[in-house]
Amino acid sequence: MNKDKPTGVSRRHFSKGALITAAVAATTSLLPNLTIAKTTDKPLRIGIIGSGYIGGSVGVLWAQAGHQVFFSSRHPEKLGDLAKKAGPTAKVGYPKEAAKFGEVIFMAVPYHAMPKVGEDLSSLIQGKVVIDCGNPYPSRDGDMAVEALKKGTGIASAEFFPGVRLVRAYNSISYQSIITQAHREGELMAIPVAADDDDALKIASKLIQESGFDPVFVGPLARAREFDNRSALYGKKGTARELREAFGVD
Ligand SMILES: NC(=O)c1ccc[n+]([C@@H]2O[C@H](COP(=O)([O-])OP(=O)(O)OC[C@H]3O[C@@H](n4cnc5c(N)ncnc54)[C@H](OP(=O)(O)O)[C@@H]3O)[C@@H](O)[C@H]2O)c1
Repeated sequence: MNKDKPTGVSRRHFSKGALITAAVAATTSLLPNLTIAKTTDKPLRIGIIGSGYIGGSVGVLWAQAGHQVFFSSRHPEKLGDLAKKAGPTAKVGYPKEAAKFGEVIFMAVPYHAMPKVGEDLSSLIQGKVVIDCGNPYPSRDGDMAVEALKKGTGIASAEFFPGVRLVRAYNSISYQSIITQAHREGELMAIPVAADDDDALKIASKLIQESGFDPVFVGPLARAREFDNRSALYGKKGTARELREAFGVD
């Protein structure tokens, strides 16, 4: 079952492959009339570790914004449709290949997989910007999720990925909202962000903007717990103004 605050349809009724394809199809079909401004000076190379609901949906938006996106899976042969939707610059392969390729890494695996993934990819992601959207759910991820929630994910995730420039973002929004709300008319939907590294924060914030949302900086990684699952503000929907007010930040 989706633990990440699904809005609308229950995905229990669909096969995962069909849902991801539908999600990606919906992403692209909702966007054809938009002029997606490419605002970075040069396209970034982005490695997606875990190309499921959230990794797939966000990765397609980044590819549409002009970045080079490498979707990875332990079974990359299943990612053909995703790559097609993402366009000609997208690549697919194994997690180590994506980790090597990316100057920015989007970590979108189940939380219980993070310690092993962190260990396996460590040498390939040193010094890189790692955007982590994982949510620890004790019912899905076991005792390590209890520990992570106690520490707060900003602290817990940093322990799994030593030597990277970690950013917490995209955890407090469902993939359905990513698909339906990206680049919406009027004030954009906002996404809370926490980071210790200023440059990593700048890069992640720009990527959030380019995916069609407004970043709201909540504070250093220690404050990521304020939008962890189980926190009062987890999943809060709103504009940047509304989220800044809710988190009490400028
Ligand atoms: N779904 C949402 O709306 C949403 C929103 C915000 C945050 N999140 C969080 O983001 C994370 C991913 O969620 P999701 O819904 O996208 O999950 P998902 O659809 O199951 O995708 C996760 C991907 O991670 C890969 N993976 C699983 N175990 C792995 C392992 N041991 N090593 C390497 N890769 C592994 C799988 O790829 P392969 O099996 O193909 O290798 C899978 O496609 C979770 O922590 C979730 O709580 C989800």
